[in-house]
Amino acid sequence: MSKKVLITGGAGYIGAHTVDALVRSGYTPIIVDDFRNSNPSVIQGLSKLIGFEPVFFKIDICDKKALKEVFTKHEINAVIHFAAFKAVGESVLEPLKYYQNNLIGLLNILECMEVFGVNEFVFSSSCTVYGEPDSIKEVNEKTPKQLPSSPYGYTKWMAEQIIADYAKAHSSFKVICLRYFNPIGAHPGGLIGELPIGKPNNLLPFITQTAIGKHSKLLVFGNDYPTIDGTCIRDYIHVMDLADAHIKAVEAFGNNSIGSCEYINVGTGKGTSVLQMIQAFEEVSGTKLPWEFAPRRPGDVIEIYANVDLAKSMLNWEVQFSYKDAIKDAWNWELSNQKKNR
Ligand code: NAD
Ligand code: WQD
Repeated sequence: MSKKVLITGGAGYIGAHTVDALVRSGYTPIIVDDFRNSNPSVIQGLSKLIGFEPVFFKIDICDKKALKEVFTKHEINAVIHFAAFKAVGESVLEPLKYYQNNLIGLLNILECMEVFGVNEFVFSSSCTVYGEPDSIKEVNEKTPKQLPSSPYGYTKWMAEQIIADYAKAHSSFKVICLRYFNPIGAHPGGLIGELPIGKPNNLLPFITQTAIGKHSKLLVFGNDYPTIDGTCIRDYIHVMDLADAHIKAVEAFGNNSIGSCEYINVGTGKGTSVLQMIQAFEEVSGTKLPWEFAPRRPGDVIEIYANVDLAKSMLNWEVQFSYKDAIKDAWNWELSNQKKNR
Protein backbone atom coordinates (compact mmCIF):
# COMPACT_ATOMS: atom_id res chain seq x y z
CA MET A 1 0.00 0.00 0.00
CA SER A 2 1.31 3.45 -0.80
CA LYS A 3 2.58 5.62 2.04
CA LYS A 4 0.14 8.31 3.25
CA VAL A 5 1.77 11.70 3.67
CA LEU A 6 -0.06 14.52 5.44
CA ILE A 7 0.64 17.88 3.81
CA THR A 8 -0.32 20.89 5.90
CA GLY A 9 -0.63 23.98 3.71
CA GLY A 10 -0.99 21.71 0.69
CA ALA A 11 -3.06 24.28 -1.21
CA GLY A 12 -0.24 26.81 -0.87
CA TYR A 13 2.52 27.63 -3.34
CA ILE A 14 5.19 25.09 -2.34
CA GLY A 15 2.68 22.63 -0.85
CA ALA A 16 0.71 22.21 -4.10
CA HIS A 17 3.87 21.52 -6.13
CA THR A 18 4.91 18.99 -3.49
CA VAL A 19 1.54 17.23 -3.66
CA ASP A 20 2.07 16.81 -7.41
CA ALA A 21 5.61 15.49 -6.84
CA LEU A 22 4.39 13.05 -4.16
CA VAL A 23 1.73 11.61 -6.46
CA ARG A 24 4.29 11.22 -9.26
CA SER A 25 6.46 9.28 -6.79
CA GLY A 26 3.67 6.93 -5.75
CA TYR A 27 2.67 8.46 -2.39
CA THR A 28 -0.89 9.23 -1.26
CA PRO A 29 -1.21 12.86 -0.18
CA ILE A 30 -3.66 13.90 2.52
CA ILE A 31 -4.03 17.68 2.28
CA VAL A 32 -4.96 20.04 5.09
CA ASP A 33 -5.45 23.76 4.40
CA ASP A 34 -8.00 26.42 5.31
CA PHE A 35 -7.27 28.65 2.30
CA ARG A 36 -6.20 31.58 4.46
CA ASN A 37 -3.47 32.29 1.92
CA SER A 38 -4.67 30.24 -1.05
CA ASN A 39 -7.97 29.29 -2.62
CA PRO A 40 -10.01 26.30 -3.83
CA SER A 41 -8.93 26.85 -7.46
CA VAL A 42 -5.55 25.39 -6.45
CA ILE A 43 -7.17 22.07 -5.57
CA GLN A 44 -8.99 22.15 -8.93
CA GLY A 45 -5.70 22.79 -10.78
CA LEU A 46 -4.01 20.05 -8.78
CA SER A 47 -6.81 17.59 -9.52
CA LYS A 48 -6.36 18.19 -13.26
CA LEU A 49 -2.63 17.78 -12.93
CA ILE A 50 -2.62 14.54 -10.93
CA GLY A 51 -5.71 13.07 -12.60
CA PHE A 52 -7.88 12.65 -9.50
CA GLU A 53 -9.29 14.67 -6.60
CA PRO A 54 -6.87 14.45 -3.69
CA VAL A 55 -8.10 13.84 -0.14
CA PHE A 56 -8.56 17.33 1.26
CA PHE A 57 -9.62 18.70 4.67
CA LYS A 58 -10.52 22.38 4.96
CA ILE A 59 -9.41 22.92 8.53
CA ASP A 60 -7.33 25.31 10.59
CA ILE A 61 -4.36 23.42 12.05
CA CYS A 62 -4.65 25.57 15.17
CA ASP A 63 -7.94 23.72 15.77
CA LYS A 64 -6.45 20.69 17.52
CA LYS A 65 -9.70 18.74 17.66
CA ALA A 66 -10.23 19.03 13.89
CA LEU A 67 -6.62 18.09 13.25
CA LYS A 68 -6.91 15.00 15.46
CA GLU A 69 -9.90 13.85 13.40
CA VAL A 70 -7.71 13.82 10.29
CA PHE A 71 -5.24 11.55 12.05
CA THR A 72 -8.13 9.37 13.23
CA LYS A 73 -9.57 9.02 9.72
CA HIS A 74 -6.24 8.30 8.00
CA GLU A 75 -3.29 6.22 9.05
CA ILE A 76 -0.62 8.80 8.35
CA ASN A 77 2.97 7.61 7.76
CA ALA A 78 4.77 10.95 7.43
CA VAL A 79 4.00 14.67 7.73
CA ILE A 80 5.28 17.56 5.62
CA HIS A 81 4.45 20.76 7.46
CA PHE A 82 4.14 23.86 5.25
CA ALA A 83 1.18 25.69 6.84
CA ALA A 84 2.37 29.01 8.25
CA PHE A 85 2.24 32.73 7.58
CA LYS A 86 5.29 33.94 5.64
CA ALA A 87 5.22 37.71 5.02
CA VAL A 88 8.18 39.30 6.78
CA GLY A 89 6.82 42.88 6.76
CA GLU A 90 3.38 41.84 7.98
CA SER A 91 4.99 39.87 10.83
CA VAL A 92 6.60 43.09 12.10
CA LEU A 93 3.19 44.81 12.18
CA GLU A 94 1.22 41.83 13.52
CA PRO A 95 3.65 39.68 15.52
CA LEU A 96 1.00 37.85 17.56
CA LYS A 97 -0.72 36.62 14.41
CA TYR A 98 2.61 35.06 13.36
CA TYR A 99 3.56 33.55 16.71
CA GLN A 100 0.06 32.14 17.13
CA ASN A 101 -0.28 30.52 13.74
CA ASN A 102 3.29 29.40 13.11
CA LEU A 103 4.00 28.07 16.60
CA ILE A 104 0.60 26.79 17.79
CA GLY A 105 0.14 25.10 14.41
CA LEU A 106 3.49 23.35 14.84
CA LEU A 107 2.78 22.33 18.45
CA ASN A 108 -0.56 20.83 17.40
CA ILE A 109 1.02 18.85 14.59
CA LEU A 110 3.73 17.48 16.88
CA GLU A 111 1.17 16.59 19.53
CA CYS A 112 -0.97 14.71 17.01
CA MET A 113 2.11 12.91 15.70
CA GLU A 114 2.97 11.87 19.26
CA VAL A 115 -0.56 10.68 20.06
CA PHE A 116 -0.90 8.73 16.79
CA GLY A 117 2.67 7.40 16.74
CA VAL A 118 3.75 9.15 13.52
CA ASN A 119 7.52 9.54 13.46
CA GLU A 120 8.58 11.04 10.13
CA PHE A 121 8.48 14.82 9.83
CA VAL A 122 9.66 17.29 7.19
CA PHE A 123 9.59 20.93 8.25
CA SER A 124 9.63 24.07 6.06
CA SER A 125 12.43 26.14 7.45
CA SER A 126 14.15 29.05 5.81
CA CYS A 127 17.54 30.58 5.04
CA THR A 128 16.26 33.46 7.15
CA VAL A 129 17.78 31.61 10.16
CA TYR A 130 21.27 32.56 8.85
CA GLY A 131 20.55 36.31 8.86
CA GLU A 132 23.25 38.35 7.09
CA PRO A 133 26.30 36.11 6.53
CA ASP A 134 29.58 37.63 7.74
CA SER A 135 32.29 37.37 5.11
CA ILE A 136 31.41 34.06 3.43
CA LYS A 137 28.19 34.47 1.51
CA GLU A 138 27.85 30.77 0.69
CA VAL A 139 26.31 29.34 3.86
CA ASN A 140 26.37 25.71 4.88
CA GLU A 141 24.41 24.05 7.68
CA LYS A 142 27.28 24.61 10.14
CA THR A 143 27.27 28.36 9.50
CA PRO A 144 26.12 29.78 12.85
CA LYS A 145 22.50 30.87 12.95
CA GLN A 146 21.87 34.49 13.82
CA LEU A 147 19.08 36.11 15.73
CA PRO A 148 16.36 36.92 13.19
CA SER A 149 15.37 40.43 12.23
CA SER A 150 11.59 39.83 12.15
CA PRO A 151 8.92 37.95 14.10
CA TYR A 152 8.50 35.71 11.03
CA GLY A 153 12.19 34.82 11.23
CA TYR A 154 11.84 34.15 14.95
CA THR A 155 8.98 31.71 14.31
CA LYS A 156 11.27 29.61 12.07
CA TRP A 157 14.15 29.95 14.54
CA MET A 158 11.94 28.89 17.47
CA ALA A 159 10.29 26.15 15.45
CA GLU A 160 13.71 24.60 14.75
CA GLN A 161 14.40 24.66 18.50
CA ILE A 162 11.01 23.16 19.44
CA ILE A 163 11.51 20.40 16.88
CA ALA A 164 15.07 19.68 18.10
CA ASP A 165 13.84 19.39 21.70
CA TYR A 166 10.99 17.12 20.66
CA ALA A 167 13.37 14.91 18.64
CA LYS A 168 15.73 14.64 21.64
CA ALA A 169 12.88 13.42 23.81
CA HIS A 170 11.49 10.88 21.29
CA SER A 171 14.01 8.32 20.13
CA SER A 172 11.89 6.92 17.31
CA PHE A 173 11.14 10.36 15.82
CA LYS A 174 13.01 11.58 12.73
CA VAL A 175 12.86 15.09 11.31
CA ILE A 176 14.43 16.88 8.39
CA CYS A 177 14.24 20.68 8.51
CA LEU A 178 14.66 21.90 4.95
CA ARG A 179 16.05 25.43 4.87
CA TYR A 180 14.65 26.88 1.66
CA PHE A 181 16.40 29.72 -0.11
CA ASN A 182 14.26 31.74 -2.58
CA PRO A 183 11.61 29.59 -4.27
CA ILE A 184 10.41 30.91 -7.64
CA GLY A 185 8.66 29.60 -10.77
CA ALA A 186 5.61 27.47 -11.36
CA HIS A 187 4.64 24.08 -12.68
CA PRO A 188 5.70 23.92 -16.35
CA GLY A 189 2.19 22.71 -17.27
CA GLY A 190 0.71 26.06 -16.16
CA LEU A 191 -1.92 24.49 -13.87
CA ILE A 192 -0.43 25.55 -10.52
CA GLY A 193 1.85 28.38 -9.46
CA GLU A 194 2.28 31.20 -6.98
CA LEU A 195 -0.90 33.16 -6.19
CA PRO A 196 0.17 36.17 -4.14
CA ILE A 197 -2.74 37.85 -2.36
CA GLY A 198 -2.54 41.64 -2.81
CA LYS A 199 0.65 43.39 -3.90
CA PRO A 200 3.55 40.90 -3.88
CA ASN A 201 6.61 41.61 -1.75
CA ASN A 202 8.77 39.02 -3.48
CA LEU A 203 10.80 39.94 -6.52
CA LEU A 204 9.69 37.56 -9.28
CA PRO A 205 5.90 37.83 -8.79
CA PHE A 206 6.35 41.62 -8.79
CA ILE A 207 8.34 41.39 -12.04
CA THR A 208 5.76 39.21 -13.84
CA GLN A 209 2.84 41.30 -12.57
CA THR A 210 4.58 44.49 -13.69
CA ALA A 211 5.30 43.05 -17.12
CA ILE A 212 1.63 42.17 -17.52
CA GLY A 213 0.59 45.68 -16.55
CA LYS A 214 -0.65 45.28 -12.96
CA HIS A 215 1.99 47.71 -11.65
CA SER A 216 3.54 50.68 -13.45
CA LYS A 217 7.13 49.72 -12.65
CA LEU A 218 9.39 47.59 -10.51
CA LEU A 219 11.38 49.42 -7.85
CA VAL A 220 14.85 47.92 -7.41
CA PHE A 221 15.68 48.40 -3.76
CA GLY A 222 19.24 49.67 -3.50
CA ASN A 223 22.04 50.13 -6.06
CA ASP A 224 25.00 50.69 -3.78
CA TYR A 225 25.47 47.32 -2.08
CA PRO A 226 28.96 45.80 -2.13
CA THR A 227 28.03 43.22 -4.80
CA ILE A 228 28.91 42.70 -8.48
CA ASP A 229 26.38 45.28 -9.69
CA GLY A 230 25.29 47.04 -6.49
CA THR A 231 22.05 45.05 -6.06
CA CYS A 232 21.30 42.26 -3.58
CA ILE A 233 22.09 38.64 -4.31
CA ARG A 234 19.88 35.62 -3.57
CA ASP A 235 19.75 31.94 -4.40
CA TYR A 236 16.61 31.53 -6.53
CA ILE A 237 15.43 27.92 -6.73
CA HIS A 238 12.74 26.47 -9.02
CA VAL A 239 9.74 25.37 -6.97
CA MET A 240 9.74 22.05 -8.90
CA ASP A 241 13.25 21.31 -7.59
CA LEU A 242 12.21 22.38 -4.11
CA ALA A 243 9.16 20.09 -4.25
CA ASP A 244 11.42 17.24 -5.32
CA ALA A 245 13.67 17.81 -2.27
CA HIS A 246 10.67 16.95 -0.06
CA ILE A 247 10.23 13.61 -1.81
CA LYS A 248 13.91 12.85 -1.31
CA ALA A 249 13.54 13.78 2.36
CA VAL A 250 10.58 11.42 2.85
CA GLU A 251 12.52 8.68 1.06
CA ALA A 252 15.58 9.33 3.24
CA PHE A 253 13.72 8.39 6.43
CA GLY A 254 14.21 4.77 5.43
CA ASN A 255 17.96 5.33 5.37
CA ASN A 256 20.04 4.57 8.47
CA SER A 257 22.51 7.38 7.82
CA ILE A 258 19.80 9.97 8.60
CA GLY A 259 20.07 11.24 12.18
CA SER A 260 17.11 12.04 14.39
CA CYS A 261 17.16 15.76 13.54
CA GLU A 262 18.75 17.06 10.35
CA TYR A 263 18.96 20.55 8.85
CA ILE A 264 19.49 20.72 5.11
CA ASN A 265 19.87 23.72 2.79
CA VAL A 266 17.75 23.66 -0.34
CA GLY A 267 19.03 26.10 -2.93
CA THR A 268 20.91 26.01 -6.22
CA GLY A 269 24.32 26.91 -4.78
CA LYS A 270 24.48 30.02 -7.00
CA GLY A 271 23.76 33.66 -6.30
CA THR A 272 21.90 35.94 -8.73
CA SER A 273 21.52 39.71 -8.41
CA VAL A 274 18.30 41.68 -8.85
CA LEU A 275 19.62 43.20 -12.09
CA GLN A 276 20.55 39.75 -13.41
CA MET A 277 16.99 38.62 -12.65
CA ILE A 278 15.57 41.55 -14.61
CA GLN A 279 17.90 40.89 -17.53
CA ALA A 280 17.00 37.18 -17.52
CA PHE A 281 13.29 38.00 -17.41
CA GLU A 282 13.58 40.32 -20.44
CA GLU A 283 15.59 37.70 -22.33
CA VAL A 284 13.26 34.80 -21.53
CA SER A 285 9.95 36.66 -22.01
CA GLY A 286 10.96 38.96 -24.85
CA THR A 287 9.26 41.74 -22.84
CA LYS A 288 10.80 45.02 -21.72
CA LEU A 289 10.36 45.56 -18.00
CA PRO A 290 9.82 49.09 -16.67
CA TRP A 291 11.99 49.54 -13.57
CA GLU A 292 13.97 52.11 -11.64
CA PHE A 293 16.28 52.24 -8.65
CA ALA A 294 14.80 53.10 -5.25
CA PRO A 295 16.32 53.35 -1.76
CA ARG A 296 17.40 50.19 0.06
CA ARG A 297 14.59 48.12 1.65
CA PRO A 298 15.10 48.06 5.43
CA GLY A 299 16.21 44.69 6.75
CA ASP A 300 17.37 43.30 3.38
CA VAL A 301 20.22 40.80 3.52
CA ILE A 302 22.95 41.90 1.09
CA GLU A 303 24.10 38.58 -0.30
CA ILE A 304 23.43 34.93 0.54
CA TYR A 305 23.42 31.64 -1.32
CA ALA A 306 23.39 28.01 -0.31
CA ASN A 307 26.08 25.43 -0.03
CA VAL A 308 24.14 22.35 -1.15
CA ASP A 309 26.70 19.58 -0.54
CA LEU A 310 24.65 18.08 2.29
CA ALA A 311 21.47 17.89 0.21
CA LYS A 312 23.47 16.04 -2.42
CA SER A 313 25.19 13.58 -0.08
CA MET A 314 22.34 13.01 2.36
CA LEU A 315 19.29 13.22 0.10
CA ASN A 316 20.85 12.39 -3.24
CA TRP A 317 19.16 15.56 -4.49
CA GLU A 318 20.36 18.07 -7.06
CA VAL A 319 18.62 20.83 -8.98
CA GLN A 320 17.37 20.04 -12.46
CA PHE A 321 16.29 23.56 -13.43
CA SER A 322 18.05 26.92 -13.78
CA TYR A 323 16.73 30.26 -12.56
CA LYS A 324 15.98 31.08 -16.19
CA ASP A 325 13.77 27.96 -16.47
CA ALA A 326 11.97 29.13 -13.34
CA ILE A 327 11.47 32.64 -14.76
CA LYS A 328 10.06 31.15 -17.98
CA ASP A 329 7.57 29.01 -16.02
CA ALA A 330 6.58 31.91 -13.76
CA TRP A 331 5.92 34.03 -16.86
CA ASN A 332 3.83 31.28 -18.49
CA TRP A 333 1.86 31.01 -15.26
CA GLU A 334 1.23 34.78 -15.20
CA LEU A 335 0.08 34.65 -18.84
CA SER A 336 -2.22 31.66 -18.23
CA ASN A 337 -3.77 33.44 -15.23
CA GLN A 338 -4.39 36.49 -17.36
CA LYS A 339 -6.25 34.34 -19.90
CA LYS A 340 -8.35 32.70 -17.15
CA ASN A 341 -9.30 36.09 -15.68
CA ARG A 342 -10.38 37.60 -18.99
P1 NAD B 1 1.78 29.77 1.11
O1 NAD B 1 1.21 30.86 1.93
O2 NAD B 1 1.57 29.80 -0.35
O3 NAD B 1 1.28 28.35 1.65
C1 NAD B 1 0.96 28.13 3.00
C2 NAD B 1 -0.41 27.47 3.03
O4 NAD B 1 -0.73 27.18 4.39
C3 NAD B 1 -1.52 28.36 2.49
O5 NAD B 1 -2.29 27.66 1.55
C4 NAD B 1 -2.35 28.71 3.73
O6 NAD B 1 -3.72 28.85 3.43
C5 NAD B 1 -2.08 27.52 4.63
N1 NAD B 1 -2.19 27.82 6.05
C6 NAD B 1 -1.53 28.74 6.79
N2 NAD B 1 -1.91 28.68 8.08
C7 NAD B 1 -2.84 27.69 8.16
C8 NAD B 1 -3.59 27.13 9.23
N3 NAD B 1 -3.51 27.61 10.47
N4 NAD B 1 -4.42 26.10 8.97
C9 NAD B 1 -4.53 25.59 7.71
N5 NAD B 1 -3.84 26.08 6.66
C10 NAD B 1 -3.01 27.11 6.89
O7 NAD B 1 3.35 29.72 1.45
P2 NAD B 1 4.51 28.92 0.74
O8 NAD B 1 5.34 29.89 -0.01
O9 NAD B 1 3.98 27.74 0.05
O10 NAD B 1 5.36 28.51 2.02
C11 NAD B 1 5.19 27.26 2.64
C12 NAD B 1 6.11 27.16 3.84
O11 NAD B 1 7.46 27.38 3.42
C13 NAD B 1 5.85 28.19 4.93
O12 NAD B 1 6.05 27.57 6.19
C14 NAD B 1 6.91 29.23 4.70
O13 NAD B 1 7.26 29.92 5.87
C15 NAD B 1 8.07 28.38 4.21
N6 NAD B 1 9.02 29.13 3.38
C16 NAD B 1 8.58 29.79 2.28
C17 NAD B 1 9.48 30.52 1.52
C18 NAD B 1 9.01 31.31 0.32
O14 NAD B 1 9.71 32.24 -0.09
N7 NAD B 1 7.86 31.00 -0.26
C19 NAD B 1 10.84 30.53 1.86
C20 NAD B 1 11.25 29.82 3.00
C21 NAD B 1 10.34 29.12 3.75
C1 WQD C 1 14.68 39.47 -3.29
C2 WQD C 1 15.49 40.67 -3.72
C3 WQD C 1 14.87 42.73 -2.66
C4 WQD C 1 10.96 43.18 -4.48
C5 WQD C 1 12.01 36.93 1.53
C6 WQD C 1 11.89 36.67 3.01
C7 WQD C 1 12.69 35.47 3.42
C8 WQD C 1 12.32 34.24 2.58
C9 WQD C 1 12.30 34.55 1.11
C10 WQD C 1 10.70 32.89 3.76
C11 WQD C 1 15.86 41.59 -2.56
C12 WQD C 1 14.64 42.81 -4.15
C13 WQD C 1 12.20 42.68 -4.15
C14 WQD C 1 10.87 44.40 -5.22
C15 WQD C 1 13.28 44.52 -5.25
N1 WQD C 1 11.01 33.75 2.88
N2 WQD C 1 13.33 43.35 -4.53
N3 WQD C 1 12.04 45.01 -5.57
O1 WQD C 1 14.29 39.35 0.54
O2 WQD C 1 15.29 37.14 -0.02
O3 WQD C 1 13.33 37.16 1.28
O4 WQD C 1 11.56 35.75 0.85
O5 WQD C 1 11.31 32.35 4.61
O6 WQD C 1 12.47 35.23 4.78
O7 WQD C 1 12.38 37.82 3.69
O8 WQD C 1 13.17 37.82 -1.14
O9 WQD C 1 11.84 38.18 -3.17
O10 WQD C 1 11.48 39.71 -1.18
O11 WQD C 1 13.58 39.90 -2.50
O12 WQD C 1 14.29 45.13 -5.58
O13 WQD C 1 9.79 44.90 -5.49
O14 WQD C 1 14.70 41.46 -4.61
O15 WQD C 1 15.34 43.96 -2.17
O16 WQD C 1 17.13 42.08 -2.82
P1 WQD C 1 14.07 37.95 0.20
P2 WQD C 1 12.41 38.90 -2.00
